Amino acid sequence: VTIYCITPTYWRYVQKAELIRVLQTLTLASYKTNIQWIVIEDSEQKTELVKNLLKRIDMQDHFKYVHLNAKTPPFQKLKGKDPRWKKHRGVEQRNAALKWIRDNVNPHGTKKIAFFMDDDNTYDVKLFEEIAKVRNVGVWPVGLVGGLNLETPVLDPKTGKVAGYKSGWKPDRAFAIDMAGFGINIDLILTKPEAVFSYRMERGFQESQFLSYFTTKEQLEPLADNCTKVYVWHTRTEKPDVKGTVPGFEV
Ligand code: UGA
Ligand code: MN
Repeated sequence: VTIYCITPTYWRYVQKAELIRVLQTLTLASYKTNIQWIVIEDSEQKTELVKNLLKRIDMQDHFKYVHLNAKTPPFQKLKGKDPRWKKHRGVEQRNAALKWIRDNVNPHGTKKIAFFMDDDNTYDVKLFEEIAKVRNVGVWPVGLVGGLNLETPVLDPKTGKVAGYKSGWKPDRAFAIDMAGFGINIDLILTKPEAVFSYRMERGFQESQFLSYFTTKEQLEPLADNCTKVYVWHTRTEKPDVKGTVPGFEV
C-alpha cells in the first residue's frame, strides 16, 4: 500500500515549522507504509524554502515526494483581517494534486490511498496504519474541530456502520467529516474524473460534496477502533507577532 498525502501550503512565518512537523511525521510513517507526499504551494512559483525542505527527503522507495504549485486566484484569497471561514482554502492546490494523480498514477498494481493532509494539523503516526486499511473510503474521528473536543462518525451499534455524525457544525451534512477525517482509494479518484473541489461549493461543504461523488454514508468504513480513537487533531498555529526580521536566515 502507498499513501498519497496531499498537502497545500502557503507562505507565512510559521510555514517552515509546520512543514517540518509534517515531514517528520511522514518519515516516521514511512517505516511502516509507503508514502508519496504531494506538496502544493499556493504561489506563482515554487519557493526555495519549500524546495530546500523537500531536498531533505532522499527519495527512497518508501518515501517519495512531488512538488507542485498552484496559486489561489486573488479574488478567492483571504485578506488580512478577513475571518478564515470567509473563503475556501486549499481548493486550487488540492485540485492540482488530483490532476497530478489522474495524469501520473497507474491504476494497476498495489493499493493506493489518498489523504488530505493539511500542513498545520497534528498527526499521530498510528493514523497511517489506519489509512493503510482503507478499501474504498475510510473514516475516523478528528480532534479539536468545529467547536467540539472531537468530531466523529457515529456507528449503529447493531450494524457497526456509520449512522450519523457528532459534529459541532451542521451534523446533518451528507458527510459531516473534516478533510483530515477520511482516506479514499485512488481507484475511485481515477474512475470519477469530474470529482474536484470548487469555489462554488457552499463554504464548509467541500468535504461533504467531494465525498458525495464516490460513496454513501452506509458504505463508509469506520476505522481507528470503530471510531473510538483520535489520531489526528485539527490544530491551528497562532500567528506570531513578528516585529522585525534578522537578515540572512531562512526561518
Ligand atoms: C478547515 C479544514 O480542515 C480544511 O481542510 C479546509 O480546507 C478549510 O477548513 C476550508 O474550509 O477551506 P482550516 O484550519 O480552517 O481548515 O484551514 P487552513 O489550515 O488555514 O487551510 C487548509 C490548507 O490550505 C492548509 O494546508 C493551508 O496551508 C492551505 N492554505 C491555506 C493555502 O494553501 N493557501 C491559503 O491561502 C490558505
Ligand atoms: Mn488548518
